Parts: sequence; C-alpha cells; structure tokens
Amino acid sequence: MDRDHAWKSEWDRRAQFCENDLLFDRGLETNSGIVHTYYNKQLLNFIGSERSMRILDVGCGTGDSIELIKKTNGSAINIFGLDYCDGAIYRCNSKLEVSLFENVNLFIGSADNLMFKDCSFDRVICISVLQYLSDSDCDHALYELLRVTQRGKYIYITIHNSFSPFWFVHKIVHCLYIGKLLRKLRILGEDTCPKENIRSYLWYLQRITSNGGKIVDISSFNILPKYAPQRIIPPLLRLEILLRRIPVISHLVQNIGAVSTIVVMRE
Ligand SMILES: C[S@@+](CC[C@H](N)C(=O)[O-])C[C@H]1O[C@@H](n2cnc3c(N)ncnc32)[C@H](O)[C@@H]1O
Repeated sequence: MDRDHAWKSEWDRRAQFCENDLLFDRGLETNSGIVHTYYNKQLLNFIGSERSMRILDVGCGTGDSIELIKKTNGSAINIFGLDYCDGAIYRCNSKLEVSLFENVNLFIGSADNLMFKDCSFDRVICISVLQYLSDSDCDHALYELLRVTQRGKYIYITIHNSFSPFWFVHKIVHCLYIGKLLRKLRILGEDTCPKENIRSYLWYLQRITSNGGKIVDISSFNILPKYAPQRIIPPLLRLEILLRRIPVISHLVQNIGAVSTIVVMRE
C-alpha cells in the first residue's frame, strides 16, 4: 500500500475507533487551553468580521473550525466543508446538526481535485492536511486551493515545517532507533501511522508562488519535538506563547517552529 492510501485507511480507522473528535482531528485526549486559544484567535483574525462570505474548509475533519467560525461570525456566513474521509464528514455533520447552524454544506472529496468552480470563495482554509499528501498531490492541492479562491482573496494554510530543529531531532531519534527504545519504555507514544510528508516552509512558498499565489504572511509555532513526552508539551507551549510577546524572540523564531501558518492571496 502506498503512503497516500495508507493515510486514507488511517483516517477511516480513526473515524471508526476514536472516542472523541479531538482525538480524531489532533491525536489529543484533551486540548491544552492556551494553545487552542492561540490557534483559534489566529484563525478568526484571518477570517475577519465580514458577515457575508463564502468560506471553504478543505480537510475539515470533524468540523472544529467550522463550528468556531459559525459561532463567531453568525448565520450569514456560508461555509463549505470538505474531507475525503466519509467518517469525518459523518462526525462533522452530527456535531454541527446539534447547533442547528444554517448555511453549512459538507462534501466528501479530495483536496487535490476540488469539485468547485474557479473563484468560488472569499476565504479558503486548509489546516493540518497537506502533510498527508505526496509532493505531487500536494502541488495539485495548492493549485486547487488557489483556483477556487477569488482573485484578491485569501487562503490560510497550516503545514508541518521541516525547517525546524525539532523535526530534525525527531528524524535523528528515529533513525538511531532510540525511538524504539523510548517507546518500549513508554516514554514515547505508539507510532502507528505511516510517516507524514514533512516539507520545509520554503518548499511551500516556492510551490505557492509558482501556482499564482502571493504570500502575505507567514509565522511558525511549536518549537518542540512533536513526540516529546506528552506531559511536558503544554507547559512548554505556554512558555513559548509568553516569550513570543518579546519582539526580538518572536522575530528569531519566526520560521523555525514545527507548525507554520501561511496566508496567501490569490493574485
Ligand atoms: C489532522 S486532521 C485536521 C482536521 C481539521 N482541519 C482540523 O484542523 O481540526 C486532517 C484531516 O485531513 C483530511 N485529509 C487528509 N488528506 C486529505 C485529502 N487529500 N483530501 C481531503 N481531506 C484530506 C483527513 O481525513 C482529516 O480529516
């Protein structure tokens, strides 16, 4: 089985077995409050306060972002959620139905072949999805995200950034089989997934530009090994958020976080 199919099966498996949506979307048992708030604020700043917009969430998972935007911006916003995992769409539908949100449309489909017409949306978001696509599929997906966005409007992409010391450390740890030992000692969690396609933010910048997008903002976060012991991650992330309030530090760590957010304008 190639990696892309392995990932699709993994999402289908998770949709069936994960006890809660957070575990499906983020692989977490509970949200670390301050970090969640940080990401939500960043997303809502991107969406802005216009009351009437068409928004597409590609790889929407169980619909956390859709729920957040709907609760904040109200019923006039038209949101379209798409995911290739029907179990995710099922969960998303159940979650959103409870809140009786209007103007939400959900679709099963793949990021690299969107069924929407050119220039259909004011905002497109694609959070933590592209690392599950191969280089060529990711390139197609970037083309598609740009194609369906109106000219002069914006796309919000979060990616895993290999230009981060900690993905580097992570690779070394795994190559040296220290990972195996740490898992045996239960210091690291089970590594059941096929490896993600971790590319550098520079790779994305180059592909976005060649597909007709203009990068208007980039920031990165999470200067931590992804597989650090779960207990120490939340306090360290809190510390990172606090330290980022100091401009020099914020500037220094701008592009070396494990997770990068790229805001793109379609030209
Ligand atoms: C880590 S979850 C993120 C979910 C959501 N965006 C969030 O931030 O909570 C990744 C989601 O991307 C979806 N996905 C992965 N590859 C995809 C593809 N090629 N097309 C559409 N959805 C995809 C998965 O099914 C999964 O729901």
